[in-house]
Amino acid sequence: MYINGIGRTKFGALTKTLPELTYEAMLNAVEDSPLDITDIDAIFVSNFLGGPLNGQLHFNSIIASLLPSLNIPIIRIETACASSSVALNQAINCLEKTPNIMIVGVEKMTGTHLISPTDAIAMAGDYKNDYEQGLIFPAAYALIAQQYMSTYGISHDALEQVSYINHKNANLNPLAHFYHKDVTVEMIKQSPRVASPLNLFDCSPLSDGAAAIIISSKKQSDRDVKILSSRIATDTISLTQRESLTSFNATKIASRKVYQDTGVTPDMIDILEVHDCFTISELLALEDLGFCRPGEAPELIENGSILPGGEHPVNTDGGLKADGHPIGATGLAQIYEIVTQLRGEAGKRQVSDPKLGLTQNIGGIGGTCGITLMEGI
Ligand code: COA
Repeated sequence: MYINGIGRTKFGALTKTLPELTYEAMLNAVEDSPLDITDIDAIFVSNFLGGPLNGQLHFNSIIASLLPSLNIPIIRIETACASSSVALNQAINCLEKTPNIMIVGVEKMTGTHLISPTDAIAMAGDYKNDYEQGLIFPAAYALIAQQYMSTYGISHDALEQVSYINHKNANLNPLAHFYHKDVTVEMIKQSPRVASPLNLFDCSPLSDGAAAIIISSKKQSDRDVKILSSRIATDTISLTQRESLTSFNATKIASRKVYQDTGVTPDMIDILEVHDCFTISELLALEDLGFCRPGEAPELIENGSILPGGEHPVNTDGGLKADGHPIGATGLAQIYEIVTQLRGEAGKRQVSDPKLGLTQNIGGIGGTCGITLMEGI
């Protein structure tokens, strides 16, 4: 299976509506692909907050209205922040009968809302048992950060580095939410506390945006990127049912399946995009994916391994922290970046000759994980 077209919008606080963002990303993907929109057999759409924030469900029908003469199957998938990697996974499973499929993800998180985004995002956690006791998302990830810092004896400096590197990378990505924002370590240190020990610059922002890709069972052109494996795994919705707070089992299980499927090991992977919804989750990702042992991610960051010129460049687009996190689009934006890099089309942020790229996309507080491994051809 192959990815033959990619498209996205800029991420940020935008004036465009949900349908406008969706249309722009789909159009960009079709323009990037050798296929025409009439070649597409089905569309999978990923959107998390359309109901609670924007008052819009039945989003597949919105897409049908954008493409009125197609009348093809369009299906919405929702698994919180992992919605678009799970939509891709499910689309892959359908390729035998529907050989060309578009997957599009979209979110509109700024502007006028039916309820507050913090309350809406909390629906990705255990609403009854955790949210109603006050555990909003930044607080849940703060608990993880507190546990990690006390278990491994690290300070907030390691998290500041994650934020700094992601903001630096975003400055080479004109589509990023924080493109052209000059962020210094001092600014990160001084930023207001959100939930101890996490500051403003430990959090991904509320972003609007959309991303789309087109996959086919057969190769379409030399710009195609091959999908070697796509796997999803799940875990309990509440942290209270977990044995460990410093690791996400779903990431471990899904990534080990990908490694088993392909014989690829972490040392062979040239570039990766990980789910840094809060800076602490980038440390967990590097460890759970097997790039280092538990507690060693701060060292990996310190020694420059994850920089664009390092051994395993991470989040060259700026990651969720600085490229942005329009929830339904995030997993596909990660794929967009890896495809761009594997094609050698990333311009100023291009890393040196990557062959294998991996994405890790988390839903909730590690309740779902989608991993995709891709190869340039
Ligand atoms: N990182 C850096 N700067 C941020 C930021 C972030 N995460 N969020 C907002 N800002 C900046 C804005 O750009 C703005 O800067 P300006 O004054 O120079 O224009 C300023 O902070 C105020 O912006 P505002 O939108 O009023 O911030 P806020 O206080 O409403 O929101 C958070 C801040 C942290 C509460 C919000 O970004 C948030 O909820 N993030 C987490 C989202 C989340 O949980 N996603 C799901 C994860 S699984």
